[in-house]
Amino acid sequence: MAEKLDYSNLGFAYHTPEKRYVANFKNGAWDEGGLSGDSNVVLNESAGVLQYCQQVFEGLKAYRWKDGSIVCFRPDLNAERMFRSAAFLEMPSFPVERFLSALDEVVKANADSVPPYGTGGSLYIRPYLFASGIVIGVQPAEEYQFRIFTTPVGPYFKGGATPIALMVSDFDRAAPHGTGAIKAGLNYAMSLHSHEIAKNKGFAENVYLDAAKREFVEETGGANILFVDREDRLIVPKSDSILPSITRRSLLYVAEEILHIPVEERPVRFSEIPDFKECGLCGTAAVISPVGKIQDHDREILFQSGMEKPGKIMTKLYETLSGMQNGEIPAPEGWIRKI
Ligand code: PLP
Ligand code: COI
Repeated sequence: MAEKLDYSNLGFAYHTPEKRYVANFKNGAWDEGGLSGDSNVVLNESAGVLQYCQQVFEGLKAYRWKDGSIVCFRPDLNAERMFRSAAFLEMPSFPVERFLSALDEVVKANADSVPPYGTGGSLYIRPYLFASGIVIGVQPAEEYQFRIFTTPVGPYFKGGATPIALMVSDFDRAAPHGTGAIKAGLNYAMSLHSHEIAKNKGFAENVYLDAAKREFVEETGGANILFVDREDRLIVPKSDSILPSITRRSLLYVAEEILHIPVEERPVRFSEIPDFKECGLCGTAAVISPVGKIQDHDREILFQSGMEKPGKIMTKLYETLSGMQNGEIPAPEGWIRKI
């Protein structure tokens, strides 16, 4: 029996789904996979994921439209990103076409838990792949499991559209030429210590700087970062050690082609931040979360848009993107997958 939830007041939490998708890789091939009612994973004590963190994952959402239909937003890009993430950690990638049909299957099986249109909720979908095979010397495992589960969610940050405060981390999330651009659980393990420091000081997230020189802005623990300069241009940090956010890539297109907001994707110096008017975080979980302030040790950097309301450009971007995801604004060809 599905849990009874108040869909209009969901946080970002795990609620056990009815079904999840499971496929196993053994003897050099993926089995045919299928739905399972069992939310537990049983592993050998020496499984590669437990010893050497061989794990990659994705995050995307299913949305309920006004006519009751269910859609996903650009899931082909999640499938492709997971394919690349897996290859970087020497794991067998899960084929893109199979990823998409497994997604359809698992969302259909959990359709009752896709929050109703107008509640602001959506169904968060978590595909992941890990080494289930035994290893003890440092090497890739020979057996893997791919799973997808779902959970209904509301806003990632408490307060939804209320601006959040960020803190500059003293630690690095990802090294140059390392794993920052792939979606691997190990990157998030690296962020937990700073996350707790930030949380205990009352900040919602950390801003990471480039690990080599600590001069450029990278991203936060769970989202890319966006700025608006005094000329109302959207400024987006470019770096090889940040996650290529699907939301960010979509927003760059929306800004330039639909809203006619000039866009610059380039390395952004931390010293430029005090000149920016607006700041926001973007990602599947974060959607677009406005940022009112960044704390850099003793220095407080306040954005012109302030701690009360999102700025003008962030609001326009948010309304357009979420309008497309919720079926209120037509999306570019190929961005919506009907389930
Ligand atoms: N950066 C990090 C570290 C993330 O965890 C996420 C979330 O997935 C993002 C950026 C945003 O990526 P996307 O827009 O593809 O969800
Ligand atoms: C996502 O947005 O899907 C993520 O994976 C971010 C995570 C911090 C929840």
